[in-house]
Amino acid sequence: MRYVFFTLLFCASLAYGQKYDRLGLTPQMGWNTYNTFAGHFNEKLIREMADVIVSSGLKEAGYVYLIIDDNWTGPRDSLGFLSVDTTRFPSGLRALSNYIHSKGLKLGLYSDAGYKTCGGYTASRGHEFQDALVFARLGADYLKYDWCNTEGIDAKGAYQTMSDALRAAGRPILFSMCEWGNNKPWLWAKNIGHSWRTTGDITACWSCVDTHGGAYNSWGVMKILDMQEGLRSYAGPGHWNDPDMLEVGNGMTINEDRAHFSMWSMLAAPLIAGNDLRKASNATLDILTNAGVIAVDQDSLGIQGFKYSAKDSIEVWFKPLVKHSWAMCILNRSAASRSVTFDWRTEAVVDSLSGRSLNATAVEYALNDLWTERILGTTATTLNANIPGHDVLMLQLTQK
Ligand code: GLA
Repeated sequence: MRYVFFTLLFCASLAYGQKYDRLGLTPQMGWNTYNTFAGHFNEKLIREMADVIVSSGLKEAGYVYLIIDDNWTGPRDSLGFLSVDTTRFPSGLRALSNYIHSKGLKLGLYSDAGYKTCGGYTASRGHEFQDALVFARLGADYLKYDWCNTEGIDAKGAYQTMSDALRAAGRPILFSMCEWGNNKPWLWAKNIGHSWRTTGDITACWSCVDTHGGAYNSWGVMKILDMQEGLRSYAGPGHWNDPDMLEVGNGMTINEDRAHFSMWSMLAAPLIAGNDLRKASNATLDILTNAGVIAVDQDSLGIQGFKYSAKDSIEVWFKPLVKHSWAMCILNRSAASRSVTFDWRTEAVVDSLSGRSLNATAVEYALNDLWTERILGTTATTLNANIPGHDVLMLQLTQK
């Protein structure tokens, strides 16, 4: 009897206080309903999106999580178990989950640490362990956990509780924390979640702020980029800074979409598309599926990139990669095109975080332009480039 007791105690201690490891070892990739559809979706749309994630090549490129954001939950039953909104999902979420899994994709669900989600739907406060069981039974592989209606709740405690609940439910579920950076989750969430939002919501513009009539702010891509300052040391395999989902294909110019996607990859950010893939142009799909840029994001070292220099609207970013290679991204924040020169032999690119340095006088690197897929020469000669407004030059540097 005593052995049974201690075995149970041991299992219980394993179940709590420790998130599922071996998940999110590279930043998660997928598609989410919210940026285009907000609450306007149903099972037909989700099935169509699953089909097009496969047929468009997104799945092949790595986008495996299909995430149903806010507005999917129904009321609780008499025992407190969460139900599914039957008007959106007349066939039930389990059938949809099976369909998503039959396509080789994974299911993402959404809840919130308060009583109600941001959209006013049923959320998990006080029912965390019950809800985690429901998510697991529905076959969820991913949970995005939001922070609306949480007045008076301790953030660390709330996220730890759901992390423990997911662990106890017994299914590996990637835990995507969405607390908007209010309580600096990078300082305490490494063992709680697999990623944490660092900011409020993104919106599809270069540098605007949408104040929603004074209710809350959504931020343009450059605004969110600037808010990542000082956070890179907290990211790594299994615990990522999340600067919010992608707005590629949602109304910015092709140059802006390319710059946005490049910079999110330099940040080792989760790549969660949010456009209507059924209507996506080839140009949009080419951006979302660029294998070289995705490889920078997904590099197994998991080192978030850093800003090396900033002058006259030109920022030069570097990211150390495996096999002593580097990614470099020159970002032109201005609307006008700019000529840029970079003399590899006089610049001292040193990354104190990873202990890596790029010494072009000792080592010669080949320069591969990741957007045109052309070799641009080597670090033996000064780089001269013209970068259109709101665009990037993104290179991979490989030792010769
Ligand atoms: C918050 C989140 C968004 C989205 C909405 C849903 O604003 O930050 O990403 O999940 O809620 O209502």
